[in-house]
Amino acid sequence: MGGPPSDAFVFFGATGDLAYKQIFPSLQGLIRDEGFNLPIIGVSRTGSLDKLKERAKNSLEEHGILNQEAYQKLTELLRAVQGDYNDPATYQKLRQELGKAERPLHYLAIHPTMFVEVAEGLAKSGCGANARVVLEKPFGRDLASAQELNRVLHQYFPEEAIYRIDHYLGKEPVQNILYTRFANPTFEPIWNRHYVRTIQITMAETFGLEDRGKFYEEAGAIRDVLQNHMLQILGSLTMDPHCGAHESVRDEKARLFKAITPLKPEDVVRGQYNGYRSVPGVSSISEVETFVAVRLSIDNWRWAGVPIYIRAGKKLAVTSTEVVVEFKRPPRETFGEIVPVLSSHMRMRISPDISISMGLRVKKPGEAMAGQDVELSLVRQAAADIPPYQRLLGDARRGMAELFTREDSVEAQWQVVDGILGNVTPLYTYEPGTWGPAEAYQLIGKHGPWLNPRPPENKP
Ligand code: BG6
Repeated sequence: MGGPPSDAFVFFGATGDLAYKQIFPSLQGLIRDEGFNLPIIGVSRTGSLDKLKERAKNSLEEHGILNQEAYQKLTELLRAVQGDYNDPATYQKLRQELGKAERPLHYLAIHPTMFVEVAEGLAKSGCGANARVVLEKPFGRDLASAQELNRVLHQYFPEEAIYRIDHYLGKEPVQNILYTRFANPTFEPIWNRHYVRTIQITMAETFGLEDRGKFYEEAGAIRDVLQNHMLQILGSLTMDPHCGAHESVRDEKARLFKAITPLKPEDVVRGQYNGYRSVPGVSSISEVETFVAVRLSIDNWRWAGVPIYIRAGKKLAVTSTEVVVEFKRPPRETFGEIVPVLSSHMRMRISPDISISMGLRVKKPGEAMAGQDVELSLVRQAAADIPPYQRLLGDARRGMAELFTREDSVEAQWQVVDGILGNVTPLYTYEPGTWGPAEAYQLIGKHGPWLNPRPPENKP
């Protein structure tokens, strides 16, 4: 994979939230770590060059990462194009700013309703020639709209030029799931329905939607994180090994997503935290879920019959994302003690700190043949060195598409959740600071309990 690196970096939505929170920090990182040295052009309706420089500085200061030398270089590389996204003159200005660049990268950090307009503007002005286009989620609102979006985008750009970001794929611990599985042949024989009893994934966040009410009203937990981040983690955890050929990782991922049985209403519990309806931008009768728990199954030889539980929610008891693969109990009680479920497991903590550990049962010292559960720590890290956006934007620039979501995967992911969108299941209220509505416990039933991630030992 790969190709000649892009020779200009263009980002639409230069005065927006994403640019402030992610793009400026990533650009500084790319300049500092990779010697990024190419025109960087911020496109927006209102952002003059001075304004963009100021926003970049504020962003870096607020994140506590301002590096004078790299910031200075960023200001030298930075250009601004101001104009409406539906005005051909905007793209003419962009064409001029691109100068001699022949292979620009365009990052559409804008509301998805504008993707098509901007793609068309780029294509018609010539700015899209030999370009790569990076898109930010959501890629559609359901299966039909995702298919339509892909169809229209392909009128302007081939699939090979489209890079759909799911920042979870740029996370070090998510890559480590794949690495640990396939770098150790030990795991392969047990990584299937013969040895695995259940899989659980929990993404818990203590914060609510205080400053994102308007956005979230259009999303909800299913669209916001289940359809993308959570399924991507599941994909890395359960896909078959790739063979190393071009596109083989994305082929295997897509094959896995296609094997997931589409969710039905009885597989889902939706919740909304008490107080969500008073958030600015949220309807006082909102039916949008801030919590979701689902029971999934993968209908292939490796995973048939293994229950998979995923839950994600805002205003829960801790902020952490964790995966637990639970192995089966011994077939009989050899030592006359009941070996607890969960004695044998693999735990992968994605955030805020990173760890991989194996749970096993060993003998307690003493005369009795009685045991205790222990966890063997394989990886333990405070946090990743390279932030996901920096890694992904660097990859996109080099034409490395492996960590971006391909069209067939996006559509297969929508297929999984399509049947549970649109308030087809009841919405239960839960109190902030808890683990969601009680109904989630009924959903997991005998395959439980839910495994609640512990709070981080040291604040990240
Ligand atoms: C975003 C969602 O994509 O991911 C947010 O829109 C969520 O609602 C965030 O909080 C979680 O990302 P991270 O990297 O902080 O786990």
